[in-house]
Amino acid sequence: MRILYCRFQIKFYDRITFAFLGYLFLFAYLPALAQTVSTGTGTIIRQRISINENWRFFKYDSITPADNLFYDVRPEVDDFQDDRPADTKPTEAENIEATQIVLKPWILPAGNDFIKDPTKHYERPDGNPGSDFPFVQSDFDDNTWENVNLPHDWAIKGPFYEGPNTEVGGGMGRLPSHGVAWYRKKLEILESDEGKSIFLDVDGAMSYAMVWLNGKLIGGWPYGYTSWRLDLTPYIIPGGENQLAIRLDNPNNSSRWYPGGGIYRNVWLVKTDPIHVGQWGTYITTSDVSKTSAKINLEIIIDNDSQNDVVVSTITKIFELDSEGKQSGDVVAEIKTSETKITAVNKGKVEGSAIIENPKLWGPPPTQTPKQYVAVTTLFYGEKQIDQYETKFGIRSLRFDPNSGVYVNGELIKIKGVNQHHDLGALGVAFNTRAAERQLEILREMGCNAIRISHNPPAPELLELTDKMGFLVMDEAFDVWQRRKTPNDFHLIFPEWYEQDLRSMIRRDRNNPSVIIWSFGNEVGEQYTDEAGAALAKLLNDICKEEDPTRPTTSAMNWAKPDMPFPTAMNVISLNYQGEGIRQDPMFEGTDRIRTVPQYDPYHKKFPDKVILTSESASAASSRGIYLFPVTPDITSPIRDGRGGDSKFKHVSAYELYAVDFGSSVDKVFGSIDQHPFVAGEFVWNGFDYIGEPTPYYEARSSYTGIIDLAGFKKDRFYIYQAHWRPELPMVHILPHWNWPERVGEITPVHVFSSGDEAELFLNGNSLGRKKKGQYEYRLRWDDVKYKPGELKVIAYKNGEEWAEDVVKTTDNPAKLELSVDRNRINDDGKDLSFITAKVIDKNGLTVPTATNNIKFKIEGPGEIVATDNGDPTDFVPFPSHERKAFSGLALVIIRSKEGEPGSIILIAKSPELEEAQVVVKVK
Ligand code: GAL
Repeated sequence: MRILYCRFQIKFYDRITFAFLGYLFLFAYLPALAQTVSTGTGTIIRQRISINENWRFFKYDSITPADNLFYDVRPEVDDFQDDRPADTKPTEAENIEATQIVLKPWILPAGNDFIKDPTKHYERPDGNPGSDFPFVQSDFDDNTWENVNLPHDWAIKGPFYEGPNTEVGGGMGRLPSHGVAWYRKKLEILESDEGKSIFLDVDGAMSYAMVWLNGKLIGGWPYGYTSWRLDLTPYIIPGGENQLAIRLDNPNNSSRWYPGGGIYRNVWLVKTDPIHVGQWGTYITTSDVSKTSAKINLEIIIDNDSQNDVVVSTITKIFELDSEGKQSGDVVAEIKTSETKITAVNKGKVEGSAIIENPKLWGPPPTQTPKQYVAVTTLFYGEKQIDQYETKFGIRSLRFDPNSGVYVNGELIKIKGVNQHHDLGALGVAFNTRAAERQLEILREMGCNAIRISHNPPAPELLELTDKMGFLVMDEAFDVWQRRKTPNDFHLIFPEWYEQDLRSMIRRDRNNPSVIIWSFGNEVGEQYTDEAGAALAKLLNDICKEEDPTRPTTSAMNWAKPDMPFPTAMNVISLNYQGEGIRQDPMFEGTDRIRTVPQYDPYHKKFPDKVILTSESASAASSRGIYLFPVTPDITSPIRDGRGGDSKFKHVSAYELYAVDFGSSVDKVFGSIDQHPFVAGEFVWNGFDYIGEPTPYYEARSSYTGIIDLAGFKKDRFYIYQAHWRPELPMVHILPHWNWPERVGEITPVHVFSSGDEAELFLNGNSLGRKKKGQYEYRLRWDDVKYKPGELKVIAYKNGEEWAEDVVKTTDNPAKLELSVDRNRINDDGKDLSFITAKVIDKNGLTVPTATNNIKFKIEGPGEIVATDNGDPTDFVPFPSHERKAFSGLALVIIRSKEGEPGSIILIAKSPELEEAQVVVKVK
């Protein structure tokens, strides 16, 4: 056992001259219960107010010891290795014990609503730790602190930690996400708010949030990915000054990817009558779904925070939503619940159901439409309407067939999915709806119909988008349980928080029609602990089932085999890489790493009643537009120098044949899934490159495994997925580029991805032959082409008919810049974004695929440049820079409107020796 001693950090107090000792010796403060009854005014008082604007922010630099307001002690980290392969066996937790007062006893009660057994609820201890700490006090002068708006990611601006043995390594993205920081804001609470219930709703804060209001510690939430609520009511001073102070403490060595840091999702103030619909208090399921009718089942949890027993009733009216998500048309069904008594300071549940005739079903495009409804619940206290609460939902049937896959409304939908981490590239983790929507649009263009949220609950708005756009979602809670992958990861809080975090994810997300599977884990260490691990899996599975019996459960497995106990604990078998086999290349013979023969058949045999899918496939890697020679003749290869990799320049070849050691190329994955038609489909690792985890080159800043790079530019891999996932779309794509002055006469293989079945390749007008795809082949390859400058042209055929054409030409030198926008009209809400691509082109307008020119961007009009990027995992220029080198000919600029300022934004791009370019974005 290791005992940790947490010392007072005197140095800090000297520095900012606050005398401060002894705050841990508790102030006798016991929050009085609100002495309120229903206002009974007859008006609905629910308000949900965004409080994202105008926060004050302060972060200790990483060297200065911060304050002593610890949530809990953490293990001493002596193992800084962050480039461990992702499939390293997780290890046991360290046993640590606090020898000082820590604040978690005051934080744990915040999760009580999510602990089923009331005897296990936490009671707030006496005292009010931290109350004399200056930052929590109303009269503390925070004028010198930075002014920020939420969602906010404190780390994304950088700078990057470059080089070996840095404070933050490649795994967490080399950005300063770690450390302690404070956010402060004065809340507007009116005199007339007296008697209301007032809540703080935080959609996500990274991490270990602890909240003080008016100097009182009121709670918090450690897991950075969970959405949580605190009841401010007992602490509020109506009509007075209300000072909110939130402390975050984001540990280093806590994540296998970039976690970001800060209050990085939306924050709300919710005001209600003391009698109100509870947090995520409605639960809608649909049953007996057909084209002609569907049953809507509704449960409502009503909180009575008043001191009186009350009798309440509800009426819920259901309306259609239009494609913009707005309520439209007349009431299509109504659910009334009879009068129900709820005792003082208690919760009550009411239930009801209704039939909708000819329902408009929710389903994934292109064959179905994601139609949605909204249930508008009015809560009555006697005759008086006291609350109104809206629940969006969809009507759809789901069936999981172990021999074919997932049926949505009776149609078999093969899962063509990708994994997505929570960062939005150069914008970091600060959630932005447009940035997330753009990602989904690009994925949709590729034919992707499903997202696995790896490996943590997403921003709620992401699920609003997947609902609206019709993606299927695997919603996932955890990357680790009790056993750890990194020294400070979630395993530290798992024992005390797993139930609250899991239940809260499901309660929040169970009305989202896009969510089809709950995942309670990813590659957890408990796969290795036989019955004990399986028992824990079963416990988590049962929690999912209690919260939502309508959806199947899973936990992704990269190690567990069919004859082990672990897979018995879930409904759906989710395999990471095991389906096509792991480390099958002969070079791995004798390795002590995971080496597995293909597992689809053994799993199907052992579990003939369970659906099998691939929750992670491929982990193929590439740097957009970088092609390395020689090219492997195999259909898949691990990455090594001279074999798809370049450890000097830290790039992986975009021939798209190379994968991390435990992964496989796209071609191999497709083949293995197609040969096992019972497999429900795949979630590729991964959709967009993300910050951190730059396997195989941890000296870099961001991943190589995305199909689309960090800037949102398509790698060649995009087209092999599009070819396979959208067979009806006429398309063909050639790789590599054709600018190889140093390779004249050398073998330079040409590969072609097409939704056709045959193609003929021409070099400078001469046919290099017509080739046809064989069974389980997904590319056409001309591996003996000798490079000659000029033009490569491919004509693809399908069923013998001409189908599509692509041309790649040797370009001239860089001559000009060209700018193009994803949208040339954006809203003046201060949030909307335009993504502008800068291309380096030659005098004929062709993108120069090798160009690396440095481009400077200038903006005029009512907008700002938020970030630039180019998708190069090795580029350490901070994201907010207005200057960016092109990478393989491209760079990206992200601009944002200013709130309430319509007009025209002009973006100008300049680079020495190149003709400049301009583009206009209208703000309305
Ligand atoms: C998997 C893991 C993912 C990611 C991926 C990278 O083993 O589940 O989170 O690390 O490898 O290739």
